[in-house]
Amino acid sequence: MKQPVQGFSKLTKEEKINWIAEHSFKNPEEGIEILKKYWHTDAEVQKLHDEFIENTISNFLLPIGIAPNFKINDQLYAIPMAIEESSVVAAASKAAKFWIDRGGFKTEIIGTEKIGQVHFMYHGDVEKLKEFFKSVTPLMLENAADITQNMEKRGGGVTGITLKDKTNSIPNYYQLHCAFETLDAMGANFINSCLESFAKTFKAEALNYNSFNETEKDIQIVMSILSNYVPNCLVKAEVSCKVEDLNEDKELTPEEFAEKFVRAVSIAEVEPYRAVTHNKGIMNGIDSVVIATGNDFRAIEAGAHAYAAKNGTYSSLTHAKVENGIFRFWIEIPLALGTVGGLTKLHPMVKVALEMLGHPDAKKLMEITAVAGLAQNFGAVRSLITSGIQKGHMKMHLLNILNQLGATEKEKAYFVNYFKDKTATHSAVVAAFEQLRATS
Ligand code: MEV
Repeated sequence: MKQPVQGFSKLTKEEKINWIAEHSFKNPEEGIEILKKYWHTDAEVQKLHDEFIENTISNFLLPIGIAPNFKINDQLYAIPMAIEESSVVAAASKAAKFWIDRGGFKTEIIGTEKIGQVHFMYHGDVEKLKEFFKSVTPLMLENAADITQNMEKRGGGVTGITLKDKTNSIPNYYQLHCAFETLDAMGANFINSCLESFAKTFKAEALNYNSFNETEKDIQIVMSILSNYVPNCLVKAEVSCKVEDLNEDKELTPEEFAEKFVRAVSIAEVEPYRAVTHNKGIMNGIDSVVIATGNDFRAIEAGAHAYAAKNGTYSSLTHAKVENGIFRFWIEIPLALGTVGGLTKLHPMVKVALEMLGHPDAKKLMEITAVAGLAQNFGAVRSLITSGIQKGHMKMHLLNILNQLGATEKEKAYFVNYFKDKTATHSAVVAAFEQLRATS
């Protein structure tokens, strides 16, 4: 691309595709064909997708799979998971099946508080600012009533506003640190609208506040925005059983398995290099449910990793221990999820995914999602401390290569067996495949 483009957003979809093909593709016709192949055949569905974002040229498909047999608080769930990585759904299903006979998953909502902040600069006497804050808070709430009244009717709303002195970090920097209850909504629009309203009232009223001198009256709002760090929007999910019931593995006794498992988790608790990968595996489960249910996985990722570092060192989101012969394994993770508003209304696939889960409210979705993360981590750690991770991965890898090669179902079955005791590198699979085709 040699020249910047002007007015790109004004082009039609066809013109945008032609432009990108002309400027980026070695073989424009082939590129255009692929882009169009992924257009939805139903014009209405395609229009919906076109309008989700700007400059849409095609769709990016992710598979959605089902991990059945999750027993959560004595209720059964089949969990929809949208993810491109092979083995994730299989691992979740396997973990669900393992725990269904051992009491299933138990969960607890620890909190549902969301946070937003108005960041501002104030030059002057802190005591006067505190007095002003106290006097203006009722008006900030009153002026935001248009935004908050519906949420309040349903039992949510603004649950607290505090003034925070951050001048130790940046001279003259303060915050209005605001807490919200947004019920079944993720609440981003609600929170940001409230914050912008608070900021407006705060700034305007400062100009009329008699105790302030001219400098103090000039409060500068830097920004008003929700925080994706929600340490009090927290859910816990847990599994436990007698150590002797951990009798799945042939290589290790249940006691050895429990000991090795607890050790592997404790390594992730103290060693950031391991913790990041350990938590990445957890997020395989979490993100796939978050995406399937139309929630914002970037927000969830950011909040989860910040929580993992809350004590100053990046650490594991899961924990395990053996006490009095009982193996316990649990996760504590902040999940600001919604089941109303946003994509949940717009995306037909999201509607279906929520229906598969029995139309959960936000709390239930937090519980289900945390369980998916815990199950994923159980599966990953179990593989790592026993057969190793490659065994399962290589089978999926093998199938991916065979699919690319256009193998039939019969050929796939043959090669899964053939590579049971061989390393399925890409070149080895291609060579074996070509040989089979040449001889048949
Ligand atoms: C791969 O996507 C995830 C794992 O690396 C997680 C882990 O190591 O715990 C298998």
